[in-house]
Amino acid sequence: MKALVDKLYENHTLSKGEYKELIDKRNTELAEYLFEKAREVRIDNYGHQIYIRGLIEFTNYCRNDCFYCGIRKSNHQVERYRLTKEEILQSCLVGYRLGFRTFVLQGGEDGYYTDDKMIDIIQSIKSNYPDCAITLSIGERSYESYKAFYDAGAERYLLRHETANPKHYESLHPTNMNLDKRKQCLYNLKDIGYQVGCGIMVGSPYQTTDSLVEDLLFIKELEPHMVGIGPFIPHQSTPFAKKEAGTMELTLYLVAIIRLILPTVLLPATTALGTIHPKGRELGILAGANVVMPNLSPKNVRQKYMLYDNKICTGDEAAECSKCMKKRMEAIGYQVVISRGDHKN
Ligand code: 5AD
Ligand code: FES
Repeated sequence: MKALVDKLYENHTLSKGEYKELIDKRNTELAEYLFEKAREVRIDNYGHQIYIRGLIEFTNYCRNDCFYCGIRKSNHQVERYRLTKEEILQSCLVGYRLGFRTFVLQGGEDGYYTDDKMIDIIQSIKSNYPDCAITLSIGERSYESYKAFYDAGAERYLLRHETANPKHYESLHPTNMNLDKRKQCLYNLKDIGYQVGCGIMVGSPYQTTDSLVEDLLFIKELEPHMVGIGPFIPHQSTPFAKKEAGTMELTLYLVAIIRLILPTVLLPATTALGTIHPKGRELGILAGANVVMPNLSPKNVRQKYMLYDNKICTGDEAAECSKCMKKRMEAIGYQVVISRGDHKN
């Protein structure tokens, strides 16, 4: 089995059958070996540097109804909010002073933010902080909208594909959403010139080893600049409230595999990973991740952006969160850097 890890380390790819074997026959010893290799590749490419992204959750309104998500439109328990341009800029200011050089604007699919409104927000951030990168994470939009945001100054886009298996995709989403549309968005974003991030939830309901293998093959084919993966965590007021959470163990294992498939990829140790285990993000870094995304949203809205239960860092000021993160990373021998943290290529 170690031979399979070696093969992946050498060739950055495996066959379907080999991926399946690598996942199904995993054990603690093999995982440790895989993490060692993933760390080595990560250190070759990015040293012990940790890139930070300031996450600004600017709206929790969403027209979608994904079965797993706490801010789905059918969840009437949620108190909805939107940040104004001024509030977003204020979060950027706080973030800039703390050393952030990437701002991630994340939100539900909220029709209130028309193309014109988004363009205005993007241009304002860009003119105030020309040395910063803007990442968007606002779901599916037309090619023309994506192009307009890019021309306004957004350079990166996060859109998790959630699963590369069409049947699995259908079991996580209402019928008006489908995998082909999702994938088309990712190809459109790439075509426009964005640095693109896809990703999955590990242990989402109905996920199988076969669907995970399809995810790995899709990731190889798309060649994204970033891959966001975290465990699925149930949210009490969704249809998946009673489903089991994904495990940290399998999440770490997949983080390491993805590092070997795409050696220079930007790989976050996600908040969800930090939520299922107190040392989840640290262990993510030690399995080959190189990015963390502390929360920059104003404190008064954080509890309202609950994608899943018990989300961490919702009670802390941005400054506390960023200090805490620096300490955590130093404790494992890594350094948070003040940098845009671009992809190596
Ligand atoms: N558990 C874990 N991750 C979730 N996301 C949404 N809901 C959950 C949940 N219950 C993830 C999705 C989405 C990203 C913004 O958050 O993968 O793309
Ligand atoms: Fe947010 Fe520790 S990283 S409180």
